Amino acid sequence: MGSKMRGAALAAGLWLVALGSLVALWSGLPQRAERRSFSGPVLPPPPPPPPPRPGAPKTFRALLTLPGGGDGPPPAPWASEPPRAGPPAVHGGIFWSRRLEEQVPRGFSEGQAAAWLQAARAARVVALERGGCGRSSNRLARFADGTRACVRYGINAEQIQGEALSYYLARLLGLQRHVPPLALARVEPRGAQWAPVRDELLGAHWAEGSVVSLTRWLPNLTDVVAPAPWRSEDGRLRPLRAGELANRSQPELVELVQWTDLIVFDYLTANFDRLVSNLFSLQWDPRVMQRATSNLHRAPGGGLVFIDNEAGLVHGYRLVGVWDKYHEPLLRSVCVFRERTVQRVLELHERRDAAAQLLRLYRRHEPRFPELAALAQPHAGLLQRRLHFLADHIKRCRDQDGAL
Ligand SMILES: Nc1ncnc2c1ncn2[C@@H]1O[C@H](COP(=O)(O)OP(=O)(O)O)[C@@H](O)[C@H]1O
Ligand SMILES: [Mg+2]
Repeated sequence: MGSKMRGAALAAGLWLVALGSLVALWSGLPQRAERRSFSGPVLPPPPPPPPPRPGAPKTFRALLTLPGGGDGPPPAPWASEPPRAGPPAVHGGIFWSRRLEEQVPRGFSEGQAAAWLQAARAARVVALERGGCGRSSNRLARFADGTRACVRYGINAEQIQGEALSYYLARLLGLQRHVPPLALARVEPRGAQWAPVRDELLGAHWAEGSVVSLTRWLPNLTDVVAPAPWRSEDGRLRPLRAGELANRSQPELVELVQWTDLIVFDYLTANFDRLVSNLFSLQWDPRVMQRATSNLHRAPGGGLVFIDNEAGLVHGYRLVGVWDKYHEPLLRSVCVFRERTVQRVLELHERRDAAAQLLRLYRRHEPRFPELAALAQPHAGLLQRRLHFLADHIKRCRDQDGAL
């Protein structure tokens, strides 16, 4: 993100202030958040929808237009698509049409996830390089067969724990198409897996015996700017409702389908390190929404890829009292959903055993499951409460259907 701030010293200064605040929130507020997190049901009444701003651009396309800037991410692939004139985008008042859903790129399959687990576990790492996988503690690994992987090392234990739990929650929700297959590995410089890169391991300063995550390296990812309903240029979110989709082109709608899954996922995991952190930064940086959304990419086929979920479920849950004032309005801005996602959410809500199902899935697939802590009991309760909140919100959208 820093590179995008070149050229404007003022903006860079503001960004540093925002970053400093984020760091402060990341590291300084957990105790306060913990005190507030689990004190009762998270079911406040919804605020009234924000009134439209006079003179604000009305169309999706107008809002997608980036003013000036030559340093932004590439334009969305549908930038020159004409508006769609076709069958309705929504059925049942709140569900994306099946025809639209079928257009969403298939992304990662269960089969690919299983194959990755096997490949990553059997692999010998023959190169370990800095760069290409984010922060300085991460590494780009090459296996003996040439396969590349991003290896994430957690500065503290809850990062990899959150990453792995979020990955399996995505699978539980049927959202695995968006989340790159993940496998856990143990750093053992004398073991067969890491022996060829023993020197590089020394340079990485990874603690021996720690558990790292391996995700397949994905070529040709591009950046993604939030679409209009969540741009919030004037500090407001524009609710995405069925009645307001008529003029969207097909590719716009296909991307919106994916964004609604993303917002549901980030709400449930309380992952603040994506759209929510941008909403937070708006108070200092009015152009933040015109820049790439962190931890989100577009694959060459158009599928959205949710990378870096380490803030989800553990760290995000510790800080939920701080970030829910952004998570909740963001969730309320969505009143159209993928039907399958809603089914899974309602099932998990009604059965009241989401954490147990999550752990079963995790344990079944990941042999290193016992080496990281499972979801703590208060966090299991919080996951269930967030499902309740979400189920309530979905019902409210359905009840309001006639008014949309
Ligand atoms: N699996 C991957 N395939 C390709 N590039 C990746 C992958 N994971 C991360 N990256 C690249 O590294 C950047 C930072 O990744 P991220 O996982 O968010 O790391 P950080 O810990 O620095 O936040 C991404 O924006 C992307 O460019
Ligand atoms: Mg990241």
